[in-house]
Amino acid sequence: MTDEQAKRARRQAALRDCHTVLSGARPLSVAEQLDAIRTLVDDDLQPDFYGTGGAVTALESRVAELLGTQDAVFFPTGTMAQQVAMRYGAELTGRPGVGLHPLSHPLVHERDAYAVLGGLRAVRTTTAPRNPTATEVAGLDEPIGTLLLELPLRDAGFVLPTWDELVATVDAARDLGARVHFDGARIWESTVHLGHSTAEIAALADSTYVSFYKSLGGISGAALAGNFDLARYARAWRHRYGGNLFQQWPAALAALHGLDRELPRLAGYVAHARTVAQALSALPGAQVFPDPPHTHQFRLWLPHPADTLNDANLALAEEEKVWFAGGWTPTELPGLAYTEITVAGPALELPAEQVTELGSRFLSRL
Ligand SMILES: Cc1ncc(COP(=O)(O)O)c(C=O)c1O
Repeated sequence: MTDEQAKRARRQAALRDCHTVLSGARPLSVAEQLDAIRTLVDDDLQPDFYGTGGAVTALESRVAELLGTQDAVFFPTGTMAQQVAMRYGAELTGRPGVGLHPLSHPLVHERDAYAVLGGLRAVRTTTAPRNPTATEVAGLDEPIGTLLLELPLRDAGFVLPTWDELVATVDAARDLGARVHFDGARIWESTVHLGHSTAEIAALADSTYVSFYKSLGGISGAALAGNFDLARYARAWRHRYGGNLFQQWPAALAALHGLDRELPRLAGYVAHARTVAQALSALPGAQVFPDPPHTHQFRLWLPHPADTLNDANLALAEEEKVWFAGGWTPTELPGLAYTEITVAGPALELPAEQVTELGSRFLSRL
């Protein structure tokens, strides 16, 4: 085990033992995850076979219904699903340019797969820390086959446009002759801020990718939703990319479980995130963004070095069984760090006064 792996295991063990958790959720053991998916298994359920049948087909139908699309295709990862969506746009339009935000997942976290494997070229849509406006898209100086919008834009602080801004940006892309693809890894919780259902949101786009292991708490996996033509193409390219796994029922069942259990709770998390953010922003030197949060996730800055904050959080967890927030990251300003706060199930039990008290307890350890 490397040092980094040992540190992670220690953090996870500490979090598992905490009786109070502000940010995130207690990690489930394999036994707990098996118990959860077992509830969806009956004697008739057969394993899927290379991407069809059983829980995989059930999941694809469920997602197509939730997103109001003709079909949805299960993928082992969103990284793979979105590469397929982007190359489809390029093939249909003959344009290898993809409108991408510099903070989008394909540009930051995928080792340039869209370019290296897909032969695509990024056309950066804006430098502002938010999705592009209609004016910015209309003003792009290179042709694009696809405009990819990440909803919410995670690396800007889980930032969403308003519904009207989103509609205008989509219209601007269509005026350019481009297709529109939504990175909806976190679309499930975006309905509150956008004020529209997942189906109404997905109806704006030609394709939408959703994730099953972020807010839904599944094991892994993604789906690409759209019309029948897109789905046929997606199944062909999923195979070519090596994504046609012999059996994927554990991930598909965990995804179905997440849709049953977590999806109905997300609006409550989003509502409570406002309370938590307000309480945290009153801590000495604290800043939250966006304020109020657009989803149940947001950024929190504190005027202390990241290592100090991470050490204090681990000590608080190990000694008092209370988890404030981990994952502190340095900023360009020495002595200022930020983290991503996730208001999930455990934080629902914490009213504002308790969040403030927890914050003070955390800060007193610095
Ligand atoms: C916004 C966004 N898009 C795409 C992905 C890719 O998902 P996967 O890990 O399934 O490849 C992620 C994963 O973190 C993400 O946050």
